[in-house]
Amino acid sequence: MTDLAQERRLVTPIPGPKSQELLARKTAAVPSGVGVTLPVFVTRAGGGVLEDVDGNSLIDFGSGIAVTSVGNSAEAVVRRASAQLADFTHTCFMVTPYEGYVEVAEALNELTPGDHEKRTALFNSGAEAVENAVKIARAYTKRQAVVVFDHGYHGRTNLTMALTAKNMPYKHSFGPFAPEVYRMPLAYPYRWLTGPENCAQEAAAQAIDMITKQVGAENVAAIVIEPIQGEGGFIEPAKGFLPKLAEFARENGIVFVADEIQTGFCRTGQWFACEDEGIVPDLITTAKGIAGGLPLAAVTGRAEIMDAAHSGGLGGTYGGNPVACAGALGAIETMKEQDLNAKARRIGEIMLARLRGMQEKFEIIGEVRGRGAMIAIELVEAGSKTPNAAATAAVAKACHAEGLVVLTCGTYGNVLRFLPPLVIGEDLLNEGLDIIEGALARL
Ligand SMILES: Cc1ncc(COP(=O)(O)O)c(C=O)c1O
Repeated sequence: MTDLAQERRLVTPIPGPKSQELLARKTAAVPSGVGVTLPVFVTRAGGGVLEDVDGNSLIDFGSGIAVTSVGNSAEAVVRRASAQLADFTHTCFMVTPYEGYVEVAEALNELTPGDHEKRTALFNSGAEAVENAVKIARAYTKRQAVVVFDHGYHGRTNLTMALTAKNMPYKHSFGPFAPEVYRMPLAYPYRWLTGPENCAQEAAAQAIDMITKQVGAENVAAIVIEPIQGEGGFIEPAKGFLPKLAEFARENGIVFVADEIQTGFCRTGQWFACEDEGIVPDLITTAKGIAGGLPLAAVTGRAEIMDAAHSGGLGGTYGGNPVACAGALGAIETMKEQDLNAKARRIGEIMLARLRGMQEKFEIIGEVRGRGAMIAIELVEAGSKTPNAAATAAVAKACHAEGLVVLTCGTYGNVLRFLPPLVIGEDLLNEGLDIIEGALARL
């Protein structure tokens, strides 16, 4: 919605009475396993705000978990998806194909790092893209093992639960999990025992040593890693760690998969976060920001790897749905025309400067980190690095009550993460930061 007033407006307590009524209906109709962070029921959204059933207007620092980077109902997404809705909604690309799918594949082949020949296959969700990247890597290498990392998150399907590090809430009571998954240490600078300086080198050496000894490099089909970890706590691996792993993969015939589902499509101020260290992944998984809120995901990669799976081996009824493809073309058009990479970098400058100012005032901010519009603060007990999940939950709750949507994350539940739409106005951005500062001050 581009005509929504870009303002925070609270006319009832949060959640308001109509939202509370809907929450009671939700509780009766939807299983409790499907949780809700902030039970305000949305009627309209756009730019940097969400409007709810009670007439409140909230500032959005979540983008539906890094999805609506171009804003909700962005003009080009609505225009293209509406035209597609009127033409046809589904044929199944595997039965009778259509041009939109091919256009999205061509766009991804061009936008992703590396000028080698590429192919792209489309799916519905991030988890499905990761599953397919593993299938493709196994078919290509004729190997089985998959290497992943501490604090990693890759989804909620059976294989991706196995790839995901954190037990609660993602895996607990849902096993058994898929076999041949091996977890290695991640170069987490803030929590590396010998300090951040040696983190990249030591973590890479440990990971490579463990892979070599415990799995055997010749058995590894794929190394799957997020260039900046999302759910794990917006952890930027220490510089040098990713290139070292990519080099190890190259030397040993292992497919290097960058999971850019949360980091991709301008979120970090570049089309893809792995560009920051000049990494050219063999395969790259994308979803979330790809289609302005419509469900779409992709695996893009080297033609010889992508073509290794036999004909009919990849696909799914809805993968690359024509309306979602039209949405993706609208989202990519918006990102290019409005230079959303530059917008993300500007958001990063503003947020990092203000949050670092807060870090000087509030001892519980252990670290401020992130790139572009993917920024977080890690909260600790004052004077230590002990994770402070209670303070994190309290700050999030206080922000919600003031009409600011923020999300938490992190292995220890002690990270507040900020993912505003890239089209948010600077006034709203600063107002949101004022609310965070006020909530920290009142703790
Ligand atoms: C890095 C990463 N991989 C995979 C996924 C799973 O995506 P989806 O929820 O669309 O299945 C997510 C979702 O948060 C993610 O952040």
